[in-house]
Amino acid sequence: MNIILILLQSLDGYIAKDENDDLSWGTKEDKQFFRDKTKEIGTMVMGRKTFESMPPKAFSNRHSIVLTRDPVQYKGYINNHGTVEFFSGAPEDLVENLEGRDIKTVALIGGGGVNTAFLEAGLVTELYITIAPVILGSGIKGLGGDQNTYFNLVETWQLSTNEVVLHYSI
Ligand SMILES: NC(=O)c1ccc[n+]([C@@H]2O[C@H](COP(=O)([O-])OP(=O)(O)OC[C@H]3O[C@@H](n4cnc5c(N)ncnc54)[C@H](OP(=O)(O)O)[C@@H]3O)[C@@H](O)[C@H]2O)c1
Repeated sequence: MNIILILLQSLDGYIAKDENDDLSWGTKEDKQFFRDKTKEIGTMVMGRKTFESMPPKAFSNRHSIVLTRDPVQYKGYINNHGTVEFFSGAPEDLVENLEGRDIKTVALIGGGGVNTAFLEAGLVTELYITIAPVILGSGIKGLGGDQNTYFNLVETWQLSTNEVVLHYSI
């Protein structure tokens, strides 16, 4: 299974100042890259807090899976822009579930909580990290865990005047 982690982070390694951060320190070019890449992949996996931080139209034309320990709270939830489902379980359980449905590639779009859970389980196969030219000073970390996981650099490119993207694979 290919699990492709996509994130925008500051120079000092934060993905948000706090849970209410609207990520306005990111650029329109990064938002476009995120939209294009996730539409190409087709399925997005995210944590419940990330889901809550996104407007409904951000799920358009994609299949989304939200990890929450309390999926019942979303019973009857309908998104008019795209298919959204709620899943409770460990990363390994989700992978087994997806493989049972013949879904072979997903975009893991954060936040730090679920990214870390998938990294600790050794399930992330690729990373696209946009580096924003800003120091936030404090906030939410996007990557965590205490494992020594090394990735290979596949490519880098300049996304906008002051931003680069780093693409790694396992
Ligand atoms: N810059 C970026 O690229 C980027 C990307 C994504 C998000 N963000 C920002 O990051 C913030 C949210 O990140 P976050 O780390 O606080 O939360 P998160 O990872 O989005 O969500 C955490 C929640 O996911 C659920 N969950 C289910 N299984 C889990 C597991 N095995 N491990 C961890 N969580 C699990 C839990 O929901 P329940 O409490 O419902 O059980 C948990 O509270 C927001 O501010 C968002 O704007 C930034």
